[in-house]
Amino acid sequence: MSELNSIVLKILNKGKGILAADESTATMTKRLESVKIQSTAENRLSFRETLFSASGMTEYIGGVILYDETIKQITSKKNKIPELISEMGSFPGIKVDTGAKVLAGSPNEKITEGLDGLRERLKEYYKFGAKFTKWRGVYNISKEHPSKLSIQSNAHALARYSALVQECNMVPIVEPEVLMDGEHSAKECFVKTSEVIKKCFEELILHKVDLKGIILKPNMILAGNKCKDKISNEEVAKLTLKCLKESVPSEVPGIAFLSGGQSEIEATENLNLINKFNNTNFIMSYSFGRALQQSALKFWSQDIKNIDGTQKIFNQRAKMNTLAALGKWSKELEN
Ligand code: G3H
Repeated sequence: MSELNSIVLKILNKGKGILAADESTATMTKRLESVKIQSTAENRLSFRETLFSASGMTEYIGGVILYDETIKQITSKKNKIPELISEMGSFPGIKVDTGAKVLAGSPNEKITEGLDGLRERLKEYYKFGAKFTKWRGVYNISKEHPSKLSIQSNAHALARYSALVQECNMVPIVEPEVLMDGEHSAKECFVKTSEVIKKCFEELILHKVDLKGIILKPNMILAGNKCKDKISNEEVAKLTLKCLKESVPSEVPGIAFLSGGQSEIEATENLNLINKFNNTNFIMSYSFGRALQQSALKFWSQDIKNIDGTQKIFNQRAKMNTLAALGKWSKELEN
């Protein structure tokens, strides 16, 4: 077994998932302001340190994706953040893209940037203790989108990123996110997501990326948030499995879903059904941002000194999602 493959299997061991705490400062500011907390470096650290030192980290969270600011921060107990995460029994990771910008030639679409100077930045993050990385390509669905140009150029960037990350001995999380914003049906989401993922693997193979040493982070197959014809959770799970079975090469060891704007319970319920019906060899876990942090953030914002109370909420969400990653979750366990 390669070193990268063994890191993947440890991160996703026994239903463990990934905490995506890699919001850029701009996104974190939006999240904090939505609960009336000022977005200072101190407050951003305080919330994140509260989660990273929660007991649930050890049992349920195999990896934490950090942002550039956070990986360099020092905790209130004078630890480096990656050290705290390692001490809790989890792997530190880092978001390395520099964001999605307007795609020249198709102004309503985005291309993710960050390849320039990436090799040097990766070396720096490796020294900080990162064992894995994340890069997110983003695609929107409409009649004419995602365009061939966006599918091709984002796949190319994801592949070049992945090859550089493996060269630096870290595991790349490959995240092609087809957004749930819009009126599109689940069927359209299925078709577009399949096309996007297939192109990503075509490029990953061309760039000689070791598929056993990556984690795929896709969206689930959902109807758009403005679509009138919603589908059941069972259908979401079945379509998601069909899409991945047909588009992902069997060497890939693990898939960790993003939550993408679903509510906490919806994301957990869908993940649970995906695992109940899982007829593939892929490990199917989670790499949630909002669906792991939303309730904890709300609670914390009422009293940022209430660390125990905030951690209790986070521990419960992490536990529920790990149960879902094992197909052992049920609604009754939420209370
Ligand atoms: O890139 C997206 C995040 O890592 C996952 O966030 O679960 O809130 O969609 P989300």
